[in-house]
Amino acid sequence: MHILIIGYGDLGSRLARLLLAEGHSVHGLKRRALSTAPLPIHICDVTEYQQLKSIIGRTKYDYIFFMPTPDTRTPDAYRHIYHHGMTALINACRPTPPQLIIMASSISVYHHNNSEWVDEESEAHTTSFNGQAVRMGEKILQASGLNHCIVRIAGIYGPQRHRLIARVRNGYYTANADQRYTNRIHIDDCAALMAHLINLSTNGTALEKIYLACDDAPVTLGEVEKWLAAHMNVHLTARQERHSATAGSKKCRNQRIKKTGYRFIYPDYRAGYSALLERE
Ligand SMILES: NC(=O)c1ccc[n+]([C@@H]2O[C@H](COP(=O)([O-])OP(=O)(O)OC[C@H]3O[C@@H](n4cnc5c(N)ncnc54)[C@H](OP(=O)(O)O)[C@@H]3O)[C@@H](O)[C@H]2O)c1
Repeated sequence: MHILIIGYGDLGSRLARLLLAEGHSVHGLKRRALSTAPLPIHICDVTEYQQLKSIIGRTKYDYIFFMPTPDTRTPDAYRHIYHHGMTALINACRPTPPQLIIMASSISVYHHNNSEWVDEESEAHTTSFNGQAVRMGEKILQASGLNHCIVRIAGIYGPQRHRLIARVRNGYYTANADQRYTNRIHIDDCAALMAHLINLSTNGTALEKIYLACDDAPVTLGEVEKWLAAHMNVHLTARQERHSATAGSKKCRNQRIKKTGYRFIYPDYRAGYSALLERE
């Protein structure tokens, strides 16, 4: 299969490795050139329709992933990517649509804030600017009439994402962290889960329109901080107001993706962080 990964970064490069190993032809797309890459990289801004159209017009892609990250955490940057980027992609695809467009979305689209369970059927009416922009991207894709699959991703952690570990190592803990449920996924699971969806699709399984990508264990941030502290022999001494006023508190269910046969490499934060700490 010919596969294009728009927003070829950390997740995209891990996904590409898996897809290449399966024998697919994979191209990446990003704005800045890389010194080396194991696959052809198109240098393009996804919001530049003409450029994108000519790239997509040259190769008949069967699957296109949309996973660029906004440059800054501002309403304009989010709107730019999820509104202009998604619109450009859909228009560029119109003449010869791929079999499937897969969007890397986010659980930030949910408005829930009382530690409720949410799944793919839950309403998603966040008031946060980032979640609203992502939801707008989803809606543009849903209204396009093109075959698509939206993967709502929880907080990604993994190698090179050591912010939480570093904070705990320095003795910091978060105010009110015992009250707030968070949801995570190790980046290797996130990439493997997306490759799994491609495998299902190429084998003729019709995918659902939305999947949640999160591990088995919604957990309070406080529990994760305490677990990490215990495993690093650190005393948490410095309370820090940190936050993420937009993250809410919810518990995400992953039954739908598990029902497809996906088996998590790291089913919970203990498995994932143990592996990360061992590698240090
Ligand atoms: N991190 C999380 O916890 C989390 C949670 C939910 C969802 N997600 C989503 O998961 C996806 C992948 O995340 P990631 O961690 O792999 O991000 P990443 O490492 O930052 O990669 C994203 C890539 O997008 C490219 N990009 C940004 N703007 C672009 C544009 N206008 N046109 C073309 N390419 C552009 C960037 O390369 P250039 O700068 O070279 O263009 C970058 O390499 C993103 O959509 C992100 O929003 C992440």
